[in-house]
Amino acid sequence: FSLRRHNTFGIDAKAHAYLPVTSLETLQALRSDAVTSGLPRLVLGGGSNLVLTQDFPGLVLHMCNRGREIAGEDDDAVYVRAAAGENWHELVLWTLAQGLAGLENLSLIPGSVGAAPIQNIGAYGIELQERFHALTAIDMESGEILALDRDACAFSYRDSVFKHSLRDRAIVTDVTFALPKRWQPDLRYADVAQELDARKLAQPSARDISDAVIAIRTRKLPDPAVVGNAGSFFKNPVVTAAQRTALLAQHPQLVNYQQPDGSYKLAAGWLIDQCGWKGKSLGAAGIYEKQALVLVNRGGASGQDVVRLAQAVQADVMGKFGVALEPEPIFV
Ligand code: EPU
Repeated sequence: FSLRRHNTFGIDAKAHAYLPVTSLETLQALRSDAVTSGLPRLVLGGGSNLVLTQDFPGLVLHMCNRGREIAGEDDDAVYVRAAAGENWHELVLWTLAQGLAGLENLSLIPGSVGAAPIQNIGAYGIELQERFHALTAIDMESGEILALDRDACAFSYRDSVFKHSLRDRAIVTDVTFALPKRWQPDLRYADVAQELDARKLAQPSARDISDAVIAIRTRKLPDPAVVGNAGSFFKNPVVTAAQRTALLAQHPQLVNYQQPDGSYKLAAGWLIDQCGWKGKSLGAAGIYEKQALVLVNRGGASGQDVVRLAQAVQADVMGKFGVALEPEPIFV
């Protein structure tokens, strides 16, 4: 089974077997089946944060369950529940159409609802964890149905428990969001504030912010339907205050942001850009012309092409800045 249409990089790897999953019962049945329970599993949502480095010798489970609803409310929030197989951006637009604000900064992020908590998606000043309430998952080892709150998910920057102790073990089936009743526009990210300024929107609605974010993303990031990619390929590295000072002495233009704990996040895109990689290629993989943090498939790239390019970029950034870049997507 070719996975080419199931990963946004457009890598033509094959899976031994493929199953669209539309319900929790399907997952429970797989556990008790002698053949399928022994196979390696790969859980797939939108395939937008994935690098397939070789054929997959097991069973691909494509989460296709659907459904979204307003699940309740209290004084602080309206709770919206969505099935893992729903498309993320369609959920954002649906909440806005219901008059519910809170997810607008996360507009146009590729991928599915079930994948969103795995890497705690974040953009334009907001991380998923700030709007997250709870999720349901099935533990494929014990068969237990897990109800996990925010603490249990152990969210941090592009990270969660699903990349650690629950990796290859829990499958998210639905996610509940808490959308704030006392909503304030979040304009922390300079690009968003500038875009709204340019549109002369001094008191933007959630819909205005969504429109602004869509415009920014469309300008900067390649549409995976046109150019294969997996969004930011590396995390923005975090350094100590002392490391930042030393780097600034040598590179006064260093793009850096102070974190609440006193450390500094560096713009990986800037580091890569400074190494001269923007717009360049290595084999069939390349660096996007408008955002150096995005690796793209120039046509027919294999997972190995992508890995080779990523390693060359990491080596150059290490050589020039002494900073290690950690990949963001999951490698299979
Ligand atoms: N920059 C350059 N050259 C480049 C790219 C960036 O100099 O080629 C510098 C610029 O100074 C720019 C700064 O880096 O102002 C930051 O760039 P940008 O606003 O594009 O954001 P980013 O840090 O590269 C992060 C997320 C994105 C998210 C944006 C907006 C990570 C790994 N990436 O990118 O997330 O959309 O901020 O919040 O944190 C993703 O994870 O797939 C993703 C796209």
